[in-house]
Parts: sequence; C-alpha cells; structure tokens
Amino acid sequence: MATHKVGIIMNGVTGRMGTNQHLLRSIMAIIAQGGVRLGDNDVILPDPILVGRDEAKLAALGARAGVKRWSTRLGETLADPANQVYFDATVTGQRPAGVRQALAAKKHIYCEKPTATTLAEAVALSREAEAAGVKSGVVQDKLWLPGLIKLKRLIDGGFFGKILSVRGEFGYWVFTGEHDKLQRPSWNYRKEDDGGIIMDMLCHWRYVIDNLFGEVTALSCLGATHVPQRWDEAGKPYKCTADDAAYATFTTRDGVVCHFNSSWCVRVRRDDLLTLQVDGTQGSAVVGLRDCFAQSLAATPRCVWNPDLAAETKYFDDWDRVAADEVCDNAFKVQWELFLKHVVRGDPFPWNLLAGAKGVQLAELGLQSWAERRWIDVPSLV
Ligand SMILES: NC(=O)c1ccc[n+]([C@@H]2O[C@H](COP(=O)([O-])OP(=O)(O)OC[C@H]3O[C@@H](n4cnc5c(N)ncnc54)[C@H](O)[C@@H]3O)[C@@H](O)[C@H]2O)c1
Repeated sequence: MATHKVGIIMNGVTGRMGTNQHLLRSIMAIIAQGGVRLGDNDVILPDPILVGRDEAKLAALGARAGVKRWSTRLGETLADPANQVYFDATVTGQRPAGVRQALAAKKHIYCEKPTATTLAEAVALSREAEAAGVKSGVVQDKLWLPGLIKLKRLIDGGFFGKILSVRGEFGYWVFTGEHDKLQRPSWNYRKEDDGGIIMDMLCHWRYVIDNLFGEVTALSCLGATHVPQRWDEAGKPYKCTADDAAYATFTTRDGVVCHFNSSWCVRVRRDDLLTLQVDGTQGSAVVGLRDCFAQSLAATPRCVWNPDLAAETKYFDDWDRVAADEVCDNAFKVQWELFLKHVVRGDPFPWNLLAGAKGVQLAELGLQSWAERRWIDVPSLV
C-alpha cells in the first residue's frame, strides 16, 4: 500500500471551527480511520501542523488532539516543502493575508467561508490562486449534511415535480453573555470585526441554492440588529454594531422562490436548527440537519380553514420519514476527504475559491439590498 503523506498547515485552528470541525472531527478522524483510501493500493494520510499566535494554546490543543507539530511562525511552516496545503480558519478579515502568503509559497489552499469581506477581494484571491497554478477549496459543509443529501436524492429522482418554493429557517437563541455564557464568538456581533449574520449565512445559502435549486438570479434582503448590547468573552458589555438577523428572498434561474430567515435571536420550535421546506407540484419535503420528511400529492390532506372547530387533521401525521440508505459522515470531514483526493489524484472539486467568491457576492448584495431597500439582480461571476 502506497501512502501519500500531505502536510497541512492549519491556521486559526485554536478557534471554534478550527478545533471542533476541522481538526478533531475531520483531520484527526481521517487519521484515526487510517487515512483516505484511493482504490485498493493507495492511501492519503494528512499530517497537520497547528499554526496560531499563542504558543500555550497551540501546545494545549496539540496535546489534546495528539498532534506533535505546531508553530507560531507561519512563514517557516510555509517554507517547508512537506506542507503542501494551507488551511485557514482564522477570522474572516485575516483570511486574504494568510491565503496570499500561502499562494506566494505555492501551497494548495483550503479555507473557511467567507473567503474575504468584499467581492472584489474574494474574486482577486480566486484569480491569484489560478495564476499560481495551485488547487483551491472553500468550505461548503451544508451540502454534505445528511438531511440535504436526502433532499438532493428526492430532487434528482423527480419527487417534487416542478419545484415552486423553498423556505429556509435557520437560527437559535444566542445568549447575550450577560447572565449566560455566550455560545458564539463576540466578534460575530461587531461590524468593525467583520461580524454580522448576512455575511455569515448568505455565503451558505448561495451554494445551497445554486447546487440544489438553480443559480440565484436576484435577491431582496432586510437585516436587523435586534439585540443592541451583548457581553464579550471577558464579561465586558459592548454595543452590537452588526446584523443579528436577516430576512432574505432569492429567485433562481429556474424560477424557484427561496426565502431564508436567519437569526441568532429566535427560539427553536421546529424540527432542527436549520430546516428547509421544499414545495413542488407533486410533493413537498422538510429537511433538517439529519432527517427528511416528505409528503406526496397523493398524501396531501384537503385543508379547510375553520378556526371555530378544533382541527381534525393532525398535520404532522401525513409526512413520511425518508429512509436513510447510507450512513453519513461528518459533513466537514466528507468535504476534506474530497479535497485531499483533489490534491493528490486530481479528482474534480468544483467548490473552489470562485465558488466561495459567489457566496461573498450574495452577502455583499444582501447588505446593499438592505441599505438601499430594494431588489438587486445577481450578475454571473463566470
Ligand atoms: N462553515 C461554517 O459553518 C462556519 C461556521 C462558523 C464560522 N465560520 C467561519 O470560520 C471562521 C472562524 O470562525 P470561528 O467561529 O471559529 O471564530 P473564532 O473566533 O472561534 O476563531 C478564530 C480563530 O482565528 C484566530 N485569529 C483571530 N484574529 C487573528 C489574527 N488577527 N490573525 C491570525 N489569527 C487570528 C483566533 O486565535 C482563532 O484561532 C470565520 O471566518 C467564520 O466566518 C464558518
């Protein structure tokens, strides 16, 4: 068995996403399973090096994860030819600087979204990666959620007939930090630190809609800062300057109307933290992170409006759980495995820096739509 060892510089790995999703649940899980198999005779084995600014934090994370290589000197790690991939999960505003440094060293790039804080910069990064002749990838994890995989299967099998509309409901209550510990970083609520739910979530909705329902053609977005003050990691109060909720409607080239509510100021009374309801002429489905429930036209109850009587129909009873044929792995890990195969064997990987730039484009236009209180067309980026 031939082993392809791939050194991966993991910058920003001490953060929430870097530690949990990328290091522990992806890279270390891949190492624990013996690598990524390429046919019967080859295997890809990732070899991470943890990079950040704080030695103590890196040493502690290295000990926790069982990783011996860590460094506070990004330049040195980039100079080592054994490190072929640069991964970036630092804060968004920092990403272009790190990616550019890695491009100068001709490393393949894999990074979190948003790839930059402006479309111009996101497109520039994509062009620069192409010019450097390296491979690139951007996290688009929602595509590999078990619920969305089931939904894709229904779409591909023609279950919906003509798809008419999609309702996305994303969100949960994020504690302010005053009495209860906050469960997201405080920078998320400060514009000056590139926070805001529009920049965060519209990047996701872009690839979800593009990949499942057809390319987005126009949007209208209303943002809000519902909670004006929060308390940071040190317990200090600060003014919230970024949007914490977004109410956005998108149209697609195929004529599907998609409305997504995204909020850190709602309490959950629905199947999951993210649900998508897809309605079509022949059937509907509601997916959460893992589950999918469907209702065909034949099973659709004839609803009659009469609030004077208690409803006879139990609306949740006419939905069937879509069977899980396969066991789904962690969504971030699945995408990492695909990216590693892309790097080593050249497998197709369309989720690159250009795809990432499309997400930034939608977020930027969402902010513009909110500011100008109007619908905006989404120009094609290719
Ligand atoms: N794919 C997803 O679903 C998803 C979810 C949440 C966040 N994200 C993205 O991941 C990135 C990280 O988010 P997070 O929630 O882990 O944030 P975080 O604050 O928990 O982590 C940020 C990391 O960046 C480092 N960092 C901060 N400032 C830096 C600087 N100036 N230079 C170098 N490193 C610096 C921190 O030390 C930390 O390691 C963001 O871009 C965010 O948009 C993606």
